[in-house]
Amino acid sequence: MSDNKRLLLIVSGGIAAYKCLEVIRRLRERGHAVRCILTKAGAEFVTPLSLAALSEDKVYDDLFSLTDESEMGHIRLSREADLVLVAPATASILAKMAAGIADDLATTALLATDCPVVVAPAMNVRMWEHPATQANMAVLEARGVRRIGPVEGDMACGEWGMGRMAEADAITAAVEDLFSGRGRLAGRRALVTSGPTHEALDPVRYLANRSSGKQGHAIARAFSRLGAETVLVSGPTGQPDPAGVETVHVETALEMLAACEKALPVDAFVAAAAVSDWRIAQPATDKIKKGKAPPLDLVENPDILARLAGAGNRRPGLVIGFAAETETVVPNAAEKRRAKGCDWIVANDVSAGTGVFGGDTNTVHLITAEGVEHWPPLAKDAVAERLASRVADALDKAP
Ligand code: C5P
Repeated sequence: MSDNKRLLLIVSGGIAAYKCLEVIRRLRERGHAVRCILTKAGAEFVTPLSLAALSEDKVYDDLFSLTDESEMGHIRLSREADLVLVAPATASILAKMAAGIADDLATTALLATDCPVVVAPAMNVRMWEHPATQANMAVLEARGVRRIGPVEGDMACGEWGMGRMAEADAITAAVEDLFSGRGRLAGRRALVTSGPTHEALDPVRYLANRSSGKQGHAIARAFSRLGAETVLVSGPTGQPDPAGVETVHVETALEMLAACEKALPVDAFVAAAAVSDWRIAQPATDKIKKGKAPPLDLVENPDILARLAGAGNRRPGLVIGFAAETETVVPNAAEKRRAKGCDWIVANDVSAGTGVFGGDTNTVHLITAEGVEHWPPLAKDAVAERLASRVADALDKAP
């Protein structure tokens, strides 16, 4: 059958390795071919025999095996697949992938492959939340590596939190979606704003804010991962352009508004940018001399969120704003939802000490017409994933 695909499954060392047996079984049932590479650490958790029996193929585990190389070199192994899945993906293999290290068959195949790569991370919550792992994951995602999970729950080590590998059915469903080229948001268009805006005082100075763009960029990646055609309009940030996302770089609020209007029509709009409420009426054309106070004659910027929410027949199907608050977070955000005419507001506390600006985690409250949901503290990527999946639910239900 031409619909049958070939998966190269890389099993690295983690207690969750047993779940990949179920993934193999389900994919084989659907007629897909599964070929396995087992790392040395992976072999501490599952046996080559189990993998071979379920995949009905030889299991590859040794880079320097002459038989393996003559039968199936690592380059061919990585190329003769439609998708590479690393499950479980340990902190160590993610770090090696991010750094381009190729010191065993698994990492060599990963460096040599030219097909899509998916990882299903599995590790202790602290290892997952460690800045090194988060940075490695961000590098990989910006390069186009897809991620499934991890999810929250009890861990084998006795702790609770984010880091459990996604369950076999979620992994199988995601692999099937990728095989068929569809995702839950396939055929949808999404627009996301991210980062701060810079409003010029003169050719070298500007008014700005502390937004890092991490949350907005994560949302654009999450939409794209679910198959949406995604446009990201970004103010100046240090974030890499997400792979597969059309990224439009702007500096000012006026430029951001113009880029957003150009991207319409869209099914969903998420205004995650921290847009400057004000701009300098007449920025100086020459650098203002030291000792001379800059003229702070401010004019109000257009509210991009309110503009798009009120765009009549060009209004995005679902309009989602962010509300960064420092006091009475939920009531202020609920009022903002009403005042700006958006469907949902994602509210967060950005008071000094919360570490939200520039940090990797966020504690948010989702305010919809139905009420308020208080989400637990989550990595910004996880907030993005939940939000994208909620958008997919809402668009599925929309008439
Ligand atoms: O009013 P406030 O700035 O707190 O509202 C925040 C929300 O409005 C965010 O979603 C932000 O992206 C959006 N916004 C906008 N244009 C502005 C100001 C804020 O889109 N000029």
